[in-house]
Amino acid sequence: MRKYCQFAFIILMIAGMASCSQDVKKYRIGVSQCSDDIWRDKQNSELKIGAYFHDNVELRFAAAYDSDERQIQQIDSLVNEGIDLLIVAPNQVSTISPAIDRAYDKGIPVIVFERKTNTKKYTAYMGADNYEMGHLMGEYVATRLNERGRIIEVMGLKGSSPAIERHNGFREAIAQHPGIQVIATLQGDWTEPTAYNTVKQWLDKNKDGEKIDLVFGMNDRTAMGARKAFEEAGRALPLFCGIDGLPGENGGIRLVQDSLLDASYIYPTHGDQLLQLAVDILEGKPYEKETKLMSALLTQDNARVLLMESEEIMRQSHNLEQLHEKANKYLDQLGNQRTLIFVALAAILLLLALLAGIYMYYLQRARIQDERMQMEREQLDFYTQVSHELRTPLTLIQGPLDQLLRTNDFRDASDNARELFSIVRRNTQRLTRLINKMLDAQVGGTVTDGNAHVETQNLASPAPAGEIKPDEDASTVLIVDDNADIRTYLRSILQGKYSVLEAEDGQRGLELAREQVPDLIVSDVMMPVMNGLEFCQQVKKDDISSHIPIILLTARALEKHQIEGYESGADAYITKPFSPELLLARIDNLLHSRHQLKDLWSVKPATEPATPAASVASVPMPIEDAFISQFKKIVEERLSDSNLSVEDLAADMGLSRVQLYRKVKALTGSTPVDLLRKARLAQAQRLLQESTLSVSEIAYQVGFASPSYFTKCYKDEFGTVPGEARKS
Ligand code: FRU
Repeated sequence: MRKYCQFAFIILMIAGMASCSQDVKKYRIGVSQCSDDIWRDKQNSELKIGAYFHDNVELRFAAAYDSDERQIQQIDSLVNEGIDLLIVAPNQVSTISPAIDRAYDKGIPVIVFERKTNTKKYTAYMGADNYEMGHLMGEYVATRLNERGRIIEVMGLKGSSPAIERHNGFREAIAQHPGIQVIATLQGDWTEPTAYNTVKQWLDKNKDGEKIDLVFGMNDRTAMGARKAFEEAGRALPLFCGIDGLPGENGGIRLVQDSLLDASYIYPTHGDQLLQLAVDILEGKPYEKETKLMSALLTQDNARVLLMESEEIMRQSHNLEQLHEKANKYLDQLGNQRTLIFVALAAILLLLALLAGIYMYYLQRARIQDERMQMEREQLDFYTQVSHELRTPLTLIQGPLDQLLRTNDFRDASDNARELFSIVRRNTQRLTRLINKMLDAQVGGTVTDGNAHVETQNLASPAPAGEIKPDEDASTVLIVDDNADIRTYLRSILQGKYSVLEAEDGQRGLELAREQVPDLIVSDVMMPVMNGLEFCQQVKKDDISSHIPIILLTARALEKHQIEGYESGADAYITKPFSPELLLARIDNLLHSRHQLKDLWSVKPATEPATPAASVASVPMPIEDAFISQFKKIVEERLSDSNLSVEDLAADMGLSRVQLYRKVKALTGSTPVDLLRKARLAQAQRLLQESTLSVSEIAYQVGFASPSYFTKCYKDEFGTVPGEARKS
């Protein structure tokens, strides 16, 4: 069973491995954003869309809400979580650098995005040129104000690189236009409320100041904060310019389109491009160390077109998002189905292994059982063989000894000799009992002793060998045994009363049974060439010998052996060592209890016609029934033939003279010649009663050569002369 458990475990392992085999290594990319606003949202969703094109990318986002400490903490914890690459937009130039250095020193590639740091420890940088942006915005302002005007600049977060660079660019461009006056540079932090507050404070302080022509907020939110302050203060509204130019409801494009802002600058997010750069780095592909993103000025002139385009892009992104969700759902289903298939497969394999195990277990059990039965059979055969070996010599000691005890020699013996003889006899009987017991104990069967009940004293003693010759009519007994001593002993028992035939095995026995048709057969069971059981069956199967009674005389003392013997057709079963008296009694009994057809052609009174068929029906065996019917038919057909001999009848039946003679004698008690004569006389009697033919005519007609011989025979048979029958 342990073997099958191991097998099942291996199958499950394979199934498990197969179901996981498609899981490739995932790249974990940490994204550290300095703040959380619509610009960052746009970029993050572009990063996610970019990740859709890579099965092996997992993104982890963190937003620091414009706090240096928080961003440092978030970077450290992303690193500790085991990210494979860090994308970072640092809040300020100098403050975040140590955290970036730590990540980089741990071997994690770092992409600095959009804002800059003062560290050199980064893998790549991607972002737009903020100086250029500020410069172009300065140029635009000068042109927009026709080189003359008063402006306010509201800065981004102090210390953040875009704020510094945009300021530098803007101021350098403005410096080229002396008609443009920067009235104030106010400090913001990229958020609208701060811008609103600073501008509000300034306006409060400069209530009576000259009109302001333009406010440049460093991003659109800052510009809008400033606008609100102006509106609330009830001051004449200047032009407002910002940077970012985002799509969407509150995005810069719409603000410009709605003239709330005069101009903006599209500050590119390009999250998808950023993700591709990250993947290229992770996969060891070639990449640009510094990537400059292109940007463009957004004014009243192009706002409408850009708004349409951006809305179209947003619609497409939305579709893409939905497609992705659908694809994800299908992939999930597919994954579940795959797992289910593998589990089912594993279960089937497990079941098969289990069934195979059970099958093999039963196979093994059946084999063990077969082997045990085979052993038992061999054991039984062995004991049967041994007992046979012992019983045969025992028979040959006990039998002759009994015979000897009855002779005159023994009666004259001294007392001492008598005592010694009885010791031998007692111990032979004891030995027989011991053998029976031993066989009984070894095979658990019942040992039968067919001889036990026989009272030897009450039976006629068998004639010792050579003393009495059987008379001419004596029945013939065929002895079949491979042991010559047993044959001799049996002959000595039987020959005074019967004429004895001998055969040394079943094969030879069968030949003799067919040739000589004995009246009875005494056969051993265990013999070479053909054993006694087979012999018994063959004798009973053959038309010629089927009627012969068979006594099986054997050392096979078990009940089951005896049953086997009867099933083969034996008429009696006697075990060795046997009592000669019992054997003789059985033979006598079998010969006398034969169902013989004495009245095959009996003559009935004239009023009651003879019914030979009824007589035939009394024969017990079907084979015998058929044999007698055939014999009768042939005799009646050839009745009138006065030359008809027994040989002719035998030839008509396909038998030899001896075979016909013995079979007919055994079944009817009469010889074929007697039966032929009886049949002729019965026919003659019928003709005398029913026809007008003369006695002589009838004598010739029923096959008598001379009427006078017919008359003699008729008188012998019926006690009257034929003329008497005629009279009645
Ligand atoms: C978004 C943002 C933008 C601005 C940029 C500067 O967080 O404040 O509005 O242009 O960052 O880094």
